[in-house]
Amino acid sequence: IDPTLDLFEEIEKLKKEKNAVILAHYYQDPDIQDIADYIGDSLGLSQQAAKTDANIIVFAGVHFMAETAKILSPDKKVLLPDVKAGCSLSDSCPPHLFRKFKEKYPDHLVITYVNCTAELKALSDIVCTSSNAVQIVESLPKDQKIIFGPDRNLGAYVMKKTGRDMVLWNGACMVHEIFSQEKITKLKERHPNAKFIAHPECEDAILKMADYIGSTTGLLNYTIKDSATEFIVATETGIIHQMEKENPGKTFIPAPPNNSCACNDCPHMKRNTLEKLYLCLKNELPEVDVPREIIEKARLPIERMLDISA
Ligand code: 13P
Ligand code: SF4
Repeated sequence: IDPTLDLFEEIEKLKKEKNAVILAHYYQDPDIQDIADYIGDSLGLSQQAAKTDANIIVFAGVHFMAETAKILSPDKKVLLPDVKAGCSLSDSCPPHLFRKFKEKYPDHLVITYVNCTAELKALSDIVCTSSNAVQIVESLPKDQKIIFGPDRNLGAYVMKKTGRDMVLWNGACMVHEIFSQEKITKLKERHPNAKFIAHPECEDAILKMADYIGSTTGLLNYTIKDSATEFIVATETGIIHQMEKENPGKTFIPAPPNNSCACNDCPHMKRNTLEKLYLCLKNELPEVDVPREIIEKARLPIERMLDISA
């Protein structure tokens, strides 16, 4: 790339020329968030992908998010700036093993968290995100038997909130499992007026300490509405960019990980850069495609989720 190029300007130009839309998750680099047409949590991003009239969707997020956009808008070209932007949680649930797991519970309904492959969604009855998982479980009859996967922490949180029993797949996100209960306790002591907010992908011991638990959009909205001026944030650090933008004068402290070599950045989300975004829009590559038969099977469980959350 010519180092004299103003990438913001070039991306804007290409976007207009090609009728493209940039959808970005809150965990993306600040530069990417700033150039995006829409920034959101997984639910908001799926809703946008379903209704956009752009010809090209540039998905600044990870692979399963781009796949979901393709399933909802199969006739559009979906681009992902770095095709290797995966997800440890999605990887923790290989479809061939999940199929066997599912066979053990033939009378159970399958709810899958959106952080999974398109193939896994095709094996599901309803998809959910962190912002609607409780609502989706509550929309089902009380005696409905449920398998929930792949995130065991979100699953356990939903069980607690709804009082229902579910069979959980044993998967987790590498970013949300690194927080240290001990270090957070000490940090809270040093910042007694700070609110501690956490994503439901965190372990129960961390969630028990939280003043508020929610999806990335939920966490952001909480920081806007709450009168506290300091927040300790237990999720990926990208969201802090929007929290700071929306709340001038408030302070946001990333929750400390349990060892000093670890950090709260998602290595998958952070594979995307402004340079890669520019190149992918220019070259219309890498493109994310999903086989037709998977699209047909995965579409209904996602649409059920969108209907329940509308
Ligand atoms: P939400 O933005 O839907 O809360 O999801 C968080 C996440 O881990 C996405 O990878
Ligand atoms: Fe996956 Fe966790 Fe990264 Fe989200 S933060 S993309 S769940 S590894």
